[in-house]
Amino acid sequence: MDELTDTQRRFAERYEEGRVPWDDPTPPPEIVALADALPPGRALDVGCGYGRAVIYLAGRGWSAVGVDFVPQAIAEAQRRAAAAGVSERATFHAASATDLAFLAPPFDLVIDVGCMHSFTEEMLAAYRDEIVRLLPPGGQYVLFAHLRQASDPEREDGPRGIAEATIYELLREAFRLERVERGVTQVEDRPPWNSAWFWFRRE
Ligand SMILES: C[S@@+](CC[C@H](N)C(=O)[O-])C[C@H]1O[C@@H](n2cnc3c(N)ncnc32)[C@H](O)[C@@H]1O
Repeated sequence: MDELTDTQRRFAERYEEGRVPWDDPTPPPEIVALADALPPGRALDVGCGYGRAVIYLAGRGWSAVGVDFVPQAIAEAQRRAAAAGVSERATFHAASATDLAFLAPPFDLVIDVGCMHSFTEEMLAAYRDEIVRLLPPGGQYVLFAHLRQASDPEREDGPRGIAEATIYELLREAFRLERVERGVTQVEDRPPWNSAWFWFRRE
């Protein structure tokens, strides 16, 4: 999949050059609220980066798995989990979100903070199929994505984002939308773009 290789190279360069604006010790407040509200279970973070959400969840008794296709990010996530004393409950894999065959269901929670919004149609379908396989009915899928209008041209200065309608169409058959919060995200000195948090329930 050439598109996958391109995106992987782009992200690997960002990590190598330290252009990682999402590197923060704590996960976003939406994930903190989730971890505090739910009883500990089994969680999967797709596109986990340096593992901030996995480490936070593991610290609260969850058994948490992080997947990212940049090996350098995974190595650092493992180092941080060890430093936080949660290695036993925090597992990391260097792999693509589009092929998670090495993971077995069931998970109680799947989160994606800024990963799938840069996928092609083909990658989105493979990713959706994996989440459907891993998350049984009743499970929760929480997504943060940059949004764009279907008619918007691709941008040079940031993630392309995904049309909200594409998300709903992709998940329509297996998920019910419980809540959505739209907002605007600004990273570094780039122009702001639309974004949203989505809380889905597996049906
Ligand atoms: C914006 S960063 C967010 C990282 C992390 N979720 C966080 O909030 O700290 C997106 C992450 O998704 C990863 N990613 C993008 N496409 C991926 C794919 N196809 N498979 C696995 N990871 C992917 C990138 O390497 C990057 O670490």
